[in-house]
Amino acid sequence: MSGGRRAALIAAAAIAVAALAWRVGRRPSVPSPIQQYSYVDARQCQACHAVIHRDYQHVGMARSFAPAPNASLIEDYERNNRLFHAGSGRHYQMLRRGGCVFQRRYEVDSHGAEVNVFEQEAMYADGATEIDGPLPVNTDGGLIANGEPIGASGLRQVHEIVLQLRGQAGDRQVPGNPKVGYTQLYGAPGTAGVSILSR
Ligand code: HEC
Repeated sequence: MSGGRRAALIAAAAIAVAALAWRVGRRPSVPSPIQQYSYVDARQCQACHAVIHRDYQHVGMARSFAPAPNASLIEDYERNNRLFHAGSGRHYQMLRRGGCVFQRRYEVDSHGAEVNVFEQEAMYADGATEIDGPLPVNTDGGLIANGEPIGASGLRQVHEIVLQLRGQAGDRQVPGNPKVGYTQLYGAPGTAGVSILSR
């Protein structure tokens, strides 16, 4: 091998090693699950699923999803917390009272007094219904986790309450030694059942 060719080979090898080192050095670290699985805008599916994308825009769920930083802040309990719906003559209001959040609906009579007041505490959003919240609900995951084998759903609810009252619910055990459990179900045509279990 001539001196010139050897020098060229060595130079080429040096460039290859440098390029490899540069690539290895730039290899991204393993992404965290949050970076790996983030919000995917439905428009990214549009190119290949045009018809599904178009139809999807008409369902409510399409409008309820948004990247978290861009989501509009709707939980404003101090200002912008009232709505009057002219069509039904109803007023709606969100308010905080004693550390709890309520949704309130009412009408106003001819004397300006509130009538037909319906008020409901909003519990889900602030975690009240979580297993360690003040009112745990669906501790076994409810229908979403278990499916709906019609009549067997009622039995499943009772089974879960019995496990909870016996302290045998394992990872999903409600803390604080619960003493009372309540199940409720309804279905067509007009059936409804409530069981209250205690120990
Ligand atoms: C580059 C084209 C392309 C893009 C972009 C794309 N898909 Fe697909 N998708 C396909 C193809 C091709 C199939 C297979 C279709 C088939 O088998 O009939 C498919 C199938 C699917 C299926 C299965 C449908 C079924 O009936 O079995 C789902 C669900 C799906 N895509 C969701 C999505 C979502 C959600 C997005 C956006 C995040 C997306 N796709 C983006 C090409 C794409």
